[in-house]
Amino acid sequence: MSPLTEILRDEIRRAGPISFRRFMEAALYDPVHGYYRRAHDPFGKQGDFYTAEQIQPVFGILMAARIRALYQEMGAPPDFTVVELGAGRREMAAAFSEWRYVPVDLAHGEMPERFRGVVFANEFFDALPVDAVAFRDGGYREMRVAWDDRFVWAAAPPAREEVVDYLRRYFPPPAEGALFEVNLDALAWLERIAHAMEAGFVFTIDYGYTRAESVRFPRGALMSYRRHHADEDVLCDPGAKDITAHVSFTALEEHGAHLGLQTVRFETLAQTLLAAGEPDQFAAALAASTPEEELRRRLQLKSLLFGMGETFRTLLQKAGGARAAK
Ligand SMILES: C[S@@+](CC[C@H](N)C(=O)[O-])C[C@H]1O[C@@H](n2cnc3c(N)ncnc32)[C@H](O)[C@@H]1O
Repeated sequence: MSPLTEILRDEIRRAGPISFRRFMEAALYDPVHGYYRRAHDPFGKQGDFYTAEQIQPVFGILMAARIRALYQEMGAPPDFTVVELGAGRREMAAAFSEWRYVPVDLAHGEMPERFRGVVFANEFFDALPVDAVAFRDGGYREMRVAWDDRFVWAAAPPAREEVVDYLRRYFPPPAEGALFEVNLDALAWLERIAHAMEAGFVFTIDYGYTRAESVRFPRGALMSYRRHHADEDVLCDPGAKDITAHVSFTALEEHGAHLGLQTVRFETLAQTLLAAGEPDQFAAALAASTPEEELRRRLQLKSLLFGMGETFRTLLQKAGGARAAK
């Protein structure tokens, strides 16, 4: 039995079933045993999953091209800053080096108190701990985690008011038995961004759904990943594998609008990549000193466009628009 399994089991024995949010937070971010805190590298071929950020240099060149267009739209301010949330291995550092780049992750980096520029978040919101909720007997109920020789889902008390409020706002009326994830931390992060950003854009890349699309996930959209295999048993082996939850783009858009972050574009990652490559027909991204390197870059572009491009989506929100329009 892993140390984290023991810790959580003992906690449940002492105080009863724990919230899924607590379980996911410990599984991913326990300071010693959490998946993202342990001395191992989850990314890439030897790890558990790839993100688009590992597809360098092509992903970096194309994202920098998109951000350059935003920088120019803002009048090229000298203090333009790119804050990356959940910067992981800082794969984007070279691509964003023409601006002040602030990588923020758990162990390092802080969002500046006040800045102009872009917040870039690739697979950040899907990694935040969520509440799990079921709609049963006509009411929203919090799903908890109990122990019965292994972690199991437990009978659920009524969900907290803020959780119910989130579900009413961002999801359609529920069907009996439906499961949901509620990402209150995502809303809190948007609030921090809106507070800190004087002017600029929030550039989010993630997988998720809108309000209308959420009905395609009647069992919720929690998933875990180990060694490039996805499995739905998120309660087994906490700390040993990644856990993610699809992002509600409706929540990001509507809470963002409430905070003055207006949606500018919402599209597939493939559309974002095509827009980035269009001005020079991908020449900058594919320019290489050897034929081997050019072939490598062409393959990178192909896996970005056709592998990830349709699964991931980009949400671009603009801050400071209301003030600028006055
Ligand atoms: C799925 S990884 C993505 C990493 C990188 N953006 C990429 O695409 O390769 C999610 C990252 O978000 C970070 N993270 C999660 N919660 C965070 C928080 N509250 N503050 C800062 N970083 C956080 C994790 O440590 C992890 O590095």
